[in-house]
Amino acid sequence: MPTSQIKLALLMQCAAGLHPGSWLHGGATRGAANSIEYYTAMAQLAERGLFDLFFIADTPAARTENLEAWSRYPLFMNSFEPMTLLAALAGLTRHIGLGGTASTSFTEPYNLARQFASLDHISHGRAAWNVVTSANAYVSLNFGLDALPPHAERYERAREHVAVTRALWDTYEDGAVQEDAGTGQYFDPAKFHVLDHRGKHFRLHGALNIARPPQGYPVTIQAGASDIGRDFAAEIAELVFGTATDLAEGVAFYADVKGRMAKFGRDPGEMKILPGLSVVVGRTRDEARHKHEAMQALMHPTVGRFFLSNDLEVDLSGLPLDEPIPPHLIPKEAQFHKAYFDQIVAAIRERNPTLRELFMSYERGKSTMLGSPSDIADTMQEWMEAGAADGFMVTFNQLPGDMAAFVELVVPELQRRGLYRRSYEPGHLRDRLGLRRPPNQYAGSAGSGSAKLP
Ligand SMILES: Cc1cc2nc3c(=O)[nH]c(=O)nc-3n(C[C@H](O)[C@H](O)[C@H](O)COP(=O)(O)O)c2cc1C
Repeated sequence: MPTSQIKLALLMQCAAGLHPGSWLHGGATRGAANSIEYYTAMAQLAERGLFDLFFIADTPAARTENLEAWSRYPLFMNSFEPMTLLAALAGLTRHIGLGGTASTSFTEPYNLARQFASLDHISHGRAAWNVVTSANAYVSLNFGLDALPPHAERYERAREHVAVTRALWDTYEDGAVQEDAGTGQYFDPAKFHVLDHRGKHFRLHGALNIARPPQGYPVTIQAGASDIGRDFAAEIAELVFGTATDLAEGVAFYADVKGRMAKFGRDPGEMKILPGLSVVVGRTRDEARHKHEAMQALMHPTVGRFFLSNDLEVDLSGLPLDEPIPPHLIPKEAQFHKAYFDQIVAAIRERNPTLRELFMSYERGKSTMLGSPSDIADTMQEWMEAGAADGFMVTFNQLPGDMAAFVELVVPELQRRGLYRRSYEPGHLRDRLGLRRPPNQYAGSAGSGSAKLP
């Protein structure tokens, strides 16, 4: 059964890889961030590895402060606009899903529905939308706001946004565009539905000027971690990216989010949960460890210190690198990200590392899985069998090297165990993920629609 097999998504966040030092690595490609040839090679490599999804993370803003650190780690500082990039890749790949991030706080449903409907047609049913509410204050400054709206309000707008967007995708029923030379009608007006929506966040009277997407709706991705974010995922998401760093946490997250689906009238099978997994594979464990150490050595102290300062919520800029952080400087508790803060405090308590040792070993909200191909496959299998995962959102420190090693070494091992496909199944992205095609909410009804709102 394809649906019980491992689903794999590839996270593209920084062109050269997720590690801050990736662009300095000997295997990095100069100019990668602005090169369609580079992204094509990455998508085609992921397609060779039979990945389900090539996924582009995004935030519509560059940082404008702390440039001494950000200039050394250009995360989101120089990146393609996702929809433009994915439309280009649609023509250069054949099977892999194409996932893009777009914020419900900083887009209007009409533009977004058009863009994703277009991408779904252009890619022959391979589009997916990562629904984010944007959590960084600097984004709001680009859109006429002094600060982000409060968390709950962002999620309220997100729910309305998704409902309106889906209603727009349902403008045309399936098969409404008939191009019937006999009647002279290009489309059947009885299968065309005008939306009249007056909500708290959006007002719209209109209809989408593109036929229903091949998948009905592009696949909906979500990655909410908070209570309200998990509820939102349970209500609308078909793919969920998790952040568990150990198996017990993964099992709890999986049960919690799927357990919330019933109250929204959904079946747990309508969602696939993919925990994030950072993989460094070598032919042997030693080779994997050496790769990782070589990568860590490329992290500039300014970058390491900056991220640690952020997450420990204290200024570490004046401290010597090769001594432990004086205990009296460490705040008693977190004001912002408790999970990250607690992770660092626990590491200090357990090992009393120097500042340099601490930032060299700190991995925010994730743990890198190092090992041989069978080590990596063992862990994946364990998570699947324990009920923590339907697959994984895989991240690589360095591209293309780490992904090429994964495709060459881990994919055959998973296939040998019968856990992974040997070729792409026919159909659309949602068929390959084992997700049902959503019916058109207006099918069979005449006249105007009204977006189904929470
Ligand atoms: C794998 C993964 C990818 C994410 N990608 C993005 C992204 O591209 N853009 C973004 O603004 N947020 C992204 N997020 C953040 C989530 O959308 C969400 O805001 C975060 O998990 C916090 O959840 P909460 O909003 O429920 O508190 C991502 C989260 C995860 C786990």
